[in-house]
Amino acid sequence: MALQKLVLLAAAMLARAETTIEERQAAAGPEAWAAAHSQAAAALARMSQQDKINMVTGVGWDKGPCVGNTSPINSIGYPQICLQDGPLGIRFGTGVTAFTPGIQAASTWDIELIRQRARYLGEEARGTGVHVLLGPVGGALGKIPHGGRNWEGFGADPYITGIAMKESIEAIQSVGVQANAKHYIANEQELNRETMSSNVDDRTLHELYLWPFADAVHANVASVMCSYNKLNGTWACENDKALNQLLKKELGFQGYVVSDWNAQHSTNAAANNGMDMTMPGSDFNGRNILWGPQLNNAVNGGQVQRSRLDDMCKRILAAWYLVGQNKGGYPAINIRANVQDNHKENVRAVARDGTVLLKNDGILPLSKPKKIAVVGSHSVVNPKGMNSCVDKGCNEGALGMGWGSGSVNYPYFVAPYDALRTRAQADGTQISLHSSDSTNGVQNVVSGADAAIVVVTANSGEGYITVEGNAGDRNNLDPWHNGNQLVQAVAQSNKNVIVVVHSTGPVILETILNTPGVRAVVWGGLPSQENGNALVDILYGLVSPSGKLVYTIGKSASDYGTSVIRGDDNFREGLFIDYRHFDQARIEPRFEFGFGLSYTNFTFSDLTISSTATAGPAKGQTIPGGPADLWETVATVTAVIKNTGAVAGAEVPQLYLTLPSSAPASPPKQLRGFAKLKLAPGESGTATFNLRRRDLSFWDTRAQQWVVPAGDFGVSVGASSRDIRLTGMLKA
Ligand SMILES: *[C@@H]1O[C@H](CO)[C@@H](O)[C@H](O)[C@H]1NC(C)=O
Ligand SMILES: *[C@@H]1O[C@H](CO)[C@@H](O)[C@H](O)[C@H]1NC(C)=O
Repeated sequence: MALQKLVLLAAAMLARAETTIEERQAAAGPEAWAAAHSQAAAALARMSQQDKINMVTGVGWDKGPCVGNTSPINSIGYPQICLQDGPLGIRFGTGVTAFTPGIQAASTWDIELIRQRARYLGEEARGTGVHVLLGPVGGALGKIPHGGRNWEGFGADPYITGIAMKESIEAIQSVGVQANAKHYIANEQELNRETMSSNVDDRTLHELYLWPFADAVHANVASVMCSYNKLNGTWACENDKALNQLLKKELGFQGYVVSDWNAQHSTNAAANNGMDMTMPGSDFNGRNILWGPQLNNAVNGGQVQRSRLDDMCKRILAAWYLVGQNKGGYPAINIRANVQDNHKENVRAVARDGTVLLKNDGILPLSKPKKIAVVGSHSVVNPKGMNSCVDKGCNEGALGMGWGSGSVNYPYFVAPYDALRTRAQADGTQISLHSSDSTNGVQNVVSGADAAIVVVTANSGEGYITVEGNAGDRNNLDPWHNGNQLVQAVAQSNKNVIVVVHSTGPVILETILNTPGVRAVVWGGLPSQENGNALVDILYGLVSPSGKLVYTIGKSASDYGTSVIRGDDNFREGLFIDYRHFDQARIEPRFEFGFGLSYTNFTFSDLTISSTATAGPAKGQTIPGGPADLWETVATVTAVIKNTGAVAGAEVPQLYLTLPSSAPASPPKQLRGFAKLKLAPGESGTATFNLRRRDLSFWDTRAQQWVVPAGDFGVSVGASSRDIRLTGMLKA
C-alpha cells in the first residue's frame, strides 16, 4: 500500500468511529515504526558505546529480577528492561493468573476470547513491571504430534496460528507491553533441539513455518526470538538467511531479534548475521559471555561494524517507543504483584469453549443424575500441592498445562472432582470418588452410577525436564498411567462411561472408543486453573460445546507420517503435515482437524463468492509482513449458518481452499478462513470470510515471490476439514 493511501486511510479512520482491525493495522504499521525509529535515532545519538553494548547484552543468568534483564541507560532515561516468560502468564509470579495455554485458546476459534486472553496477559505483564513478555508462540507448529512444546502454540496449521499470533500481539502491545514472537524458526521437537539442524526447503519454510511470523511482523511485533536449533546447518541466532534476508528484508521486520536463552554461539557471526540482543547474557552457569566486553572488542577491532551495533540499539529503542514505554508511569518490576483482577473469567471461558466434544450418544448433557462416580488420579488436585513440581515437571493430579519455561504457578486450581462435587451438592446427586489410576477397587465405586466420569491425561513439555521417562517430547501418543485399562475396568461394571481427556496434544483413542459402555468422550485439552469448572459447564450443558480440534487425532501414531527425529531433520514431509498429510495420503483420521460436536445442530446454506483476484505475483512495496498487496482482501466468501436444534450453541464454519492445478503440487485443502457464530435455537447468522492475496498464493521458489496461480480455486466451507457442507469456485 502506498504511503499516500495510508495517510488517506488514517484520515478516513478519524472521520469514522468504527474501524476494522485491518484498517488500524494498515494505517498504524509503517508510520508508527517510522516515528519510533526517528525517536530511536535521536536517543542513540546521546548514547556512548558502552551504553550501546549494555543495551544489547543481558546482565547474565540469575542476576536480575526477571529471566532476562538489561542495564538501565540513565543518559536517555531508559530503564532496566525486564524480559519474562511466558506465553500463558508471568512465570514465577505468585499473584498472577495461570491463563490457558495457546493450544486451548486456538481450540475456541474465538477471536474475541483470544484477544481478551492476550490483553489480560499484557495487563498482568505491565502490572508486574515486565517490559517484554516472551510470547506468543508461532512455532513449534506441531508437525510432530509428540512434540513437547506444541501446546504452547496455536495448533498444527499456519493460518490459524498466524491469526492467533496477530490477535495476541496486537492485544499485548495495546496495553504498552512488548510482545515476542517465538521460536524462530523450525524448532519442532525437544530432542537434541540445541544441536540439530532443521533442513527445510524454501517453499515449505514460507508456506508453513515462516507464515505465522509474517502475521506477527504484520501485527508490528516488537521482538522475535531466534531458536536453539540450526536452520540448514547454521544456528538460527547467527543465520543471515533467516534473520537478515527473510525476517528483516523480506518481511520488513523493524523490531529486534533476541536470542533464546543461551542459544547464541558466537560473538561476530551473531552480530553480523542479524541478532540484536543476547539473553540472558551468559550461559546458565554465568559463564560464556559472548557479547558485553567481547562485542566491544569486536566493534573496536572492526570485526563488527559500529553501524551494526547502532542498528541493534535502534531496533531495541524503536520497539520501546513503539509501544509507548518511554512515556513514564510504567509500573516498577515486581513479579510478585497481585494482578489477577477478573482475568479468571477469561480462563474459564477459554477452558470451556476450547473443550471439544468428540463423542456423545446422548448421555450428555447430564441432567440431575442420581449418582455419579469420578475416577482417576487426574480428577483431583496434585496431592503434593498444585504448584509442588518445579515448572510443572510432573504429571500428578489434574492437568492444566504442560511443563517447562512456558508454565506458571497456579493461584488456585479447581480439579474435576472439586467442581463436580459442588454441582452434585447443588443437585442432590450422590458422588463417589476413586482418586487413583489403579483398577483395584474401581468397580465398587462406579457400579450403579448414572455417569462414571474417567479422567485421563497425556503430558509433555520442555526438554530440560524429564517426566516419567518423557524427555520433553512424548514417547508415544497413548494416555498416561494405563488410562486405557482404567477405562476398560470402569466399563466392565458401568455402561455410562464418560471419558474426559486432558492432554497437550493428540492421543490415540482407539482402545477407549472400542470399549462398550463408553458413551461420551470430552476433549478437555489444557484448561489451566479452571479445569473442573469448565468441565462442569460442558458436562451439564450450561453451554453447548463449541471447541474444535486444532490438530488431527489419528487412528495410530504412524498415520501422521512424522515423528521425533534423531540427528538432523530434513523435513521430508514438506507441506504435508497434520491434515494436509492425512488428506494427501488418503488416511482416514479418527477425528479430523476442525472437528467438534455440539448439543445442537447447524445447517450451512447460501454460499456466495465474490472475487477480484488476479493471477500473478504480489509486488507491492514492503510493509511489515511483506509486500503490501499480499495483505489486501481479494475475495469474499459468505455462508449462512442456522441453529436448527433445540438449544443455543456456537458453530465454527471453516473455509478451506484448493489451489488450481496450475500451482505446483499442493495440499488438497488448506484452511484460509474461519468464524465463530453464537446462535440461539432457530437463529441464522452469516459467516464472512475475507481472503487476502496471500491466502490465494503459493511461494514460487524460482521467482522468489508469492504468486496467485491462474485457474479455478476450490472453495469448501464446512464444520470441519472433512465435514464439508458447501462448495464453490473462484477464478484468478
Ligand atoms: C535450505 O536448504 C533448502 C534446500 O537446499 C533450500 O531450498 C532453502 O532455501 C534453504 N533455506 C535457507 C533458509 O537457507
Ligand atoms: C441433529 O441432527 C441429527 C441428524 O439429523 C439428529 O439425529 C440429532 O438428533 C440432532 N441433534 C440435535 C441436538 O438436534
